Amino acid sequence: MLKVGFVGWRGMVGSVLMNRMRAENDFEGYEALFFSTTQAGKPAPDIGTPAPAVQDATDIDRLAGMDIIVSCQGGAYTEKYYPALRRQGWKGYWIDAASTLRMEPDSVIVLDPVNLEVIQNALARGLRQFIGGNCTVSLMLMALGGLFAQDLIEWMTSMTYQAASGAGARNMRELVAQMAAIGNGCAGLLEDPASAILELDRRVSRILSDPDFPTQRFGAPLAASLIAWIDRPVEAGQTREEWKGYAETNKILDRSDNPIPIDGLCVRIGAMRCHSQAFTIRLKKDLSVDEIRQILAAHNQWVRVLENERKETVARLSPAAVSGTLQVPIGRIRKLNIGPRYLTAFSVGDQLLWGAAEPLRRVLKIIREYLEG
Ligand code: HSE
Repeated sequence: MLKVGFVGWRGMVGSVLMNRMRAENDFEGYEALFFSTTQAGKPAPDIGTPAPAVQDATDIDRLAGMDIIVSCQGGAYTEKYYPALRRQGWKGYWIDAASTLRMEPDSVIVLDPVNLEVIQNALARGLRQFIGGNCTVSLMLMALGGLFAQDLIEWMTSMTYQAASGAGARNMRELVAQMAAIGNGCAGLLEDPASAILELDRRVSRILSDPDFPTQRFGAPLAASLIAWIDRPVEAGQTREEWKGYAETNKILDRSDNPIPIDGLCVRIGAMRCHSQAFTIRLKKDLSVDEIRQILAAHNQWVRVLENERKETVARLSPAAVSGTLQVPIGRIRKLNIGPRYLTAFSVGDQLLWGAAEPLRRVLKIIREYLEG
């Protein structure tokens, strides 16, 4: 029976992964062991079947007994323990949510509705590093998969509206704390419908610039504002988040030697866990909007192609509507008046599900099936 070790299952992405695996009965048919850097010896989480007590995630010998390890523990853990395991001669399969190993030549970035063939070829070639992609990239590919699969994109931009969760659990708390500070500070004025709107606006501005306003994590107000910078700077004025759009997309599609140009600006907004993005696409062919809609809808079972009209857009194309679901709606699809081959669209997706946990859950199954023949 295969042995699968889980590290980092108590964090945000790890918890979402555990929930999805429980919901899909994914703990059956192999031995699951739970590792922790701080909880060794405590009872394992409830997975519906008995599991041994939590193991020590710093014990290389213990880890080396696993056929597959799934890590949501973060980049620092991967950096330290992954090379140590390989140095010890470990030949198992490493599945990771962290970006540390993503761009290595021996890594596959996993998103099976888009690149199952790339994953299967990698398994056949003996590769053993299967890494979850950047959330924005994965969600973009889930939405636009049909156009990529038919090689219809000459170049594109993605302008993002990224949720607080992408920055971490503590950032989500800070966003809500910021909202609460604004709400509490405005309570008297809000209750009085006759209060002057400019007074309310001045009050909000004062709260946002108050030295006690909680900005420890984001470094600036996100509630009632936005932050037009995500991650660290790289070359040519891009941020690393923006660079990933090009680098990871082409790696996922296994076309790094013939890359599709992709770029855009990545912006943090006050949504909780859904990333949104607006696309400008230069098509290789002048297809009709109806043809494009059909191609998008046929690609995978999670994409939802919406009508470009107010009611459906307002009801279904928002973080509030999508949060906690696996659906990836894409709407506002129309040709730009720049020319017949210029398409625009807007998409939303849960960055903890398709953006993080779901591709890992699914590649674990794919690897198990491969190993079990
Ligand atoms: N880097 C992303 C963000 C999340 O900051 O929103 C993880 O892919």
